[in-house]
Amino acid sequence: MSDVAVIGAGYVGITTAACLAHLGHDVTCADLNEERVRALAAGRVPILEEGLPALVQEGLAAGRLHFVVGAADAARHAEFVFLCVQTPQSDTGAADLSAVEAVAREIATVLRAGTVVVNKSTMPVGSTRFVARELSQAGAANDVGVASNPEFLREGNAVRDFLEPSRVVIGCDDTAVAVRVSELYRDVKAPVLVTDPASAEMIKYASNAFLATKISFINAIANLCEAVNADVREVSLGMGYDPRIGFEFLHPGPGYGGSCFPKDTAALLHTAREAGYDFSLLRGVVEVNERQHERVLEKIRAAAGGSLAGVTVGVWGLTFKANTDDLRDSPALVVCRRLLDDGAAVRGYDPAAGEAAGAALPGLEVAPDAYAAAEGAGVVTLLTEWDELRWLDYARVAGAMVAPRALVDGRNLLDPIAMRRRGFAYQGVGR
Ligand code: UDX
Repeated sequence: MSDVAVIGAGYVGITTAACLAHLGHDVTCADLNEERVRALAAGRVPILEEGLPALVQEGLAAGRLHFVVGAADAARHAEFVFLCVQTPQSDTGAADLSAVEAVAREIATVLRAGTVVVNKSTMPVGSTRFVARELSQAGAANDVGVASNPEFLREGNAVRDFLEPSRVVIGCDDTAVAVRVSELYRDVKAPVLVTDPASAEMIKYASNAFLATKISFINAIANLCEAVNADVREVSLGMGYDPRIGFEFLHPGPGYGGSCFPKDTAALLHTAREAGYDFSLLRGVVEVNERQHERVLEKIRAAAGGSLAGVTVGVWGLTFKANTDDLRDSPALVVCRRLLDDGAAVRGYDPAAGEAAGAALPGLEVAPDAYAAAEGAGVVTLLTEWDELRWLDYARVAGAMVAPRALVDGRNLLDPIAMRRRGFAYQGVGR
């Protein structure tokens, strides 16, 4: 078993640290935020992620998981250093590598001989070599290796995705180093693909861009279904039976959001521009996605009779998808902001992130539950597919709302027939 440092205690860092400790490694996870480190060291996980608190507590109790402030302390004894710091989108669309650069410079001189630095966060093509260069310029020994090992974790499913991945990708110019990284995953049953760094980095971007393409494709088909009176749910079902297409990622909605797809598609477009390739297909994917947010708004406006001024709109679900408390690039927040701009009173409810959404969006009134969000609303829109919204007392919802009692279901979560029977003016997506 190995001595591992994980730098960055965000979604990716905490998951990587806790799962590697679960696999038996001795893991020290570092972050700059003292309060976060203190909470984690006491077994409190600051994010909503199924199964993660249990793994963190297991690691702490076994003495295999430690949390410290500062990267150098964590990296000093490590055989492997996983870089899990943020790589946010810069103004040009490119990924901003300043946090990666800062960590590389901080740890360079404390690394032991033969340590492998592993790029886990999503970093653009060329980053493995970039990190190697930064390390060597900052004084790291010549035999420090660098590898790319991209994560494919879905929020809400991150622990399972780490421990039962569809594949492990390792990009490294030195096969012996790649083999050492692969040994960390010895107890994980998954195909391991060892390749060159640029291909590993591209695999991550291409995978996310492909998934984003599937979503924009089905959103476009849904929009067309609305125009020709077809039902997109039947269409995606019929398409999904073809194994070349599959059922996954064919759910239309208010557009994709979250910490990955918007940022990674922008970064890949930036890479394409730099490389002189016109990636018009991907530009289209991003455009369809942005217009999809607008379409929700148009439906709400139409349901309210053409103008939103003075109308109370209830918004159910504020996170970018269900089972997470993450609001980053959430389509629901984009819709809320536009509703407020257009003069509506917006009352939002979210099971996990209501308070945070209220703090992020001035003017948004946060309701304690779905019924309170519907109180006095002419239109309620459902934007995150939280399961509890399926099981509400809809007679009570109808009683709380005022005419026209419109339900704009941005996720096709509810049954149109049942909703219409209860007197709602129901509208889904693409049906
Ligand atoms: C994604 C990738 O799945 C993961 O592999 C990568 O490492 C990080 O980005 P995540 O952002 O957690 O994970 O969420 P995901 O479940 O993929 O959903 C992304 C967005 O697409 C959400 O806004 C979701 O609502 C939307 N989506 C997804 C759809 O609108 N329709 C679908 O059919 C699937």
